[in-house]
Amino acid sequence: MRILQGSSNPALTEKLVQTLGTDIVRRELMRFPDGELYIKMIDDVKGEDIVLVQSTYPDHNAVEFLLLSRTLKDMGARSVVGVIPYYGYARQDKVFKEGESFSARTMAKHLQMDLDHVICVNLHKEATLYEFDSVMSTVNVSVMEVIGSFLQGLGVDLVLSPDKGAMNYAREAAETAGCSFDHLEKTRMDGRTVIMTPKKLDVHGKVVGIVDDIIATGGTIQKAQETLREQGAREVYACCAHGLFTGGGRDRLVSALDGLYSSDTIENPTTAFSAAVPVAGRIREIMG
Ligand code: R5P
Repeated sequence: MRILQGSSNPALTEKLVQTLGTDIVRRELMRFPDGELYIKMIDDVKGEDIVLVQSTYPDHNAVEFLLLSRTLKDMGARSVVGVIPYYGYARQDKVFKEGESFSARTMAKHLQMDLDHVICVNLHKEATLYEFDSVMSTVNVSVMEVIGSFLQGLGVDLVLSPDKGAMNYAREAAETAGCSFDHLEKTRMDGRTVIMTPKKLDVHGKVVGIVDDIIATGGTIQKAQETLREQGAREVYACCAHGLFTGGGRDRLVSALDGLYSSDTIENPTTAFSAAVPVAGRIREIMG
């Protein structure tokens, strides 16, 4: 088994190589003057099991994923495991209004074409895995235990999710951190506006860790930390799997929080922990 590194996640891929003690498939990637991607495998992969590590966000990374997976099959790879650290379009996970694209499904139908197995990380909705209906196996790996260990190191007393729907993340992280968990009450008004109903929590004088799958605009975490400060929390940290940080959200949060951390599914200045160990565990299971 060897690993083929796309261009989206070099740090995570390097950690996977180290954790699994395997080699990289050498390849050449460059852009033509018109911006289109040129791909050439340097190594032969005939008859091999290859793990392709590549997120599908932003859009050009999805195109790269398709070109790399197809090239592996064209060159005779025996099997291809697609590791998708951050799955683009995950949040368009149903038709909210008639006529909309069911984007999470559409992406899966196309991405799976040259795959045998799929590993995603903290998919926004686990049911999206069912859309990969022509592969042998799918799995949604969670970094919440990794986050739990990290929060334990920060001395958190309580782990919270911003809403009830994400409370499983808080539970997973809190179990590892060895503390209690709960959730806040969030109502999303639109893509940029959230309202946090101040659910009364026992946070006075406590060190609180907020966990979520994605931080995008940062509006959710901003409201959550305001609510917690109003209720007397001593320190407030936020951790997520996927730090998208659109529209300057990161800087605002860094100044509002005692600490802001994300995993290497989207590498950025807040990346403080890695998805490599849980992902490597699943790769070992698949490879037997
Ligand atoms: C929503 O359901 C997700 O779990 C996140 O809470 C959301 O994507 C965060 O978005 P934002 O940072 O824009 O508030």
